[in-house]
Amino acid sequence: MTEAICWINGKIIPAHSASVSVLDHGLLYGDGVFEGIRFYNRRAFRLQTHLQRILRSATALALKIPLNTVELTQAIHATIAAFDLADGYLRLVVTRGSGRMGLDPANCTKPEVFIIADQLSMVSESVRTRGARVIIAATRRLGADGLDPRIKSLNYLNHILARMEASNAGADEAILLNAQGHVAEGTADNLFIVRAGLLLTPPCSDGALEGITRAVVMELAQQLGVSCRETTLGSYDLYTADECFLTGTGAEIIPVREVDGRIMAECPGPIFHQLNALYQQRVLTE
Ligand SMILES: Cc1ncc(COP(=O)(O)O)c(C=O)c1O
Repeated sequence: MTEAICWINGKIIPAHSASVSVLDHGLLYGDGVFEGIRFYNRRAFRLQTHLQRILRSATALALKIPLNTVELTQAIHATIAAFDLADGYLRLVVTRGSGRMGLDPANCTKPEVFIIADQLSMVSESVRTRGARVIIAATRRLGADGLDPRIKSLNYLNHILARMEASNAGADEAILLNAQGHVAEGTADNLFIVRAGLLLTPPCSDGALEGITRAVVMELAQQLGVSCRETTLGSYDLYTADECFLTGTGAEIIPVREVDGRIMAECPGPIFHQLNALYQQRVLTE
């Protein structure tokens, strides 16, 4: 079994012996930001895009990351080099750091940064090949009027509750709607449907994270000559889609075969097959 490792304070140690304070506001209040990054053949995929996103998330929370982009890049390279395997998953986390009780981040003077490297087995091989059964969760995604969905923060409770709904229903994943009943995203992935040859995905303003895999899929669609549009979707659009799939760093691209018991017309469908083949190539060659 490969051991997870952790970069913290400039050292790389076994993850099980790395720790942060019980007074860390990341732990006490979810006050912090993170990125999930995959590496293939010891190369982090779209690393600079992930670093730009965490920087924007932190800036939106007025959280100053104590390392600059070059230092973060070096820490990530060192972590990948120290990991047992050439392929894996990194979790880059920046918390507000420890401080006195009370929400005010002014009490916290030193943000904490750590990077975990581990294997990822989020999605089973059978789900990847036969497609995921998904449900639409009763738990709603927080809207942009509450917490902007572009901030990748440590607050995932809605997503956790939706994930629990999926498990309780014997499904593989849950889709969250926003307060208006529009499709937002999966619990840790973005969503696409295919309708009459057109690729459609909800806009971030409907509650989707500005996913990096989502952006890659849009680029690949353009390369294939498949038109792609951001548009508001309802559950009806999912139920009646020709194809549906989920995208995320951890998930990569996963076909969906069933939404709330409605069977997709095609799963895995032809557009999925083409995009997935290009995606698998892209992560190894970019
Ligand atoms: C809520 C949420 N949506 C979407 C995604 C997919 O984003 P990305 O492709 O950047 O990993 C993630 C990934 O962590 C996520 O947590």
